[in-house]
Amino acid sequence: MTQIIKNIETAVKELLGGSIVALPTETVYGLGANALDADAALKIFEAKQRPRFNPLIVHVKNVTDFEKYAEDIPDDVYKLAEKFSPGPISYIVKKKKIIPDIITSGSKFVALRVPSHELFRKVLEESGIPVCAPSANRFSGISPVCAEDVMKELGGKINYILDGGKSVLGIESTVVNFTEEGVEILRNGFITKEEIEKVIGKTISGFSKKNISPGMLKVHYAPEKPMYFVKSFDEVKHINDRKIGLLDFSGYKDSREIALNLFSDLRNLDEMNIDFIVCKKTEESGLGVAINERLEKAAKGYLPKELSG
Ligand code: TXA
Ligand code: MG
Repeated sequence: MTQIIKNIETAVKELLGGSIVALPTETVYGLGANALDADAALKIFEAKQRPRFNPLIVHVKNVTDFEKYAEDIPDDVYKLAEKFSPGPISYIVKKKKIIPDIITSGSKFVALRVPSHELFRKVLEESGIPVCAPSANRFSGISPVCAEDVMKELGGKINYILDGGKSVLGIESTVVNFTEEGVEILRNGFITKEEIEKVIGKTISGFSKKNISPGMLKVHYAPEKPMYFVKSFDEVKHINDRKIGLLDFSGYKDSREIALNLFSDLRNLDEMNIDFIVCKKTEESGLGVAINERLEKAAKGYLPKELSG
């Protein structure tokens, strides 16, 4: 049976004992394990039914811990960390041997992130270990932003969910890679390309298609109901006899508010008695880029003619 708990002692005990525990972060909930224990990490892949080629982000307490787990860390990492860590950004850096290969899916590089959620930070402090954690959803499902979401995704598959309230940001960290040719974004996330460029004083040549993160599969964040894009919600007027859920952001004041509600709105619609979901992309700038990236992976494409009648 899966229990929602509020005390970190149980979470710490479980992690140190080699078990997996769902933990709150400021972005989305993660499914955590001791990042130094290959057997514990394996349990994450099993519970999520996640393919082994999709590496896990390692969460550490402070930037000063980076050197324990990585080497040859570029200056740009420290520049970015000074501004954005703790927070929603993950750095791809050369791993030290201490990090088991299963964590990085065999890559020589590991993703490191310093989360800002107070409870997660306490768990890192009390346990004294780095914690690997992917989002706590079943493979390709909608990312969970509260303990109840995790229960729906992984209930019965894990023993404990540490309840830290609703995630305050709502979408995942930006994954940043550092190569000889320059800095690349492997996954768009809460910290925008423009914010990163400003700190490192260099332009990022768009989104890396070549070195795309191994886990960035085409279908992701997917609701169970089919979801389609429309250019305008007016198109929905022409649909007969079908119950349609609108993923409509027009009531939100800015992209931060959209990000905050994106996964919970999507999940709420998915649970309703409807035939399919329609949504409109948001403005493709700033945080909108990360929002649209998630919508693209959740949707099946544009509404087909036969559905719009
Ligand atoms: O905000 C977040 O990043 C959340 C919270 C829980 O920290 N975590 C998260 O993890 O979104 P996950 O596993 O759902 O997505 C991690 C992404 C994947 O696209 C994965 O391929 C990429 O980061 N990634 C992780 N380690 C990597 C590595 N060593 N090299 C390249 N990409 C990596
Ligand atoms: Mg995920």
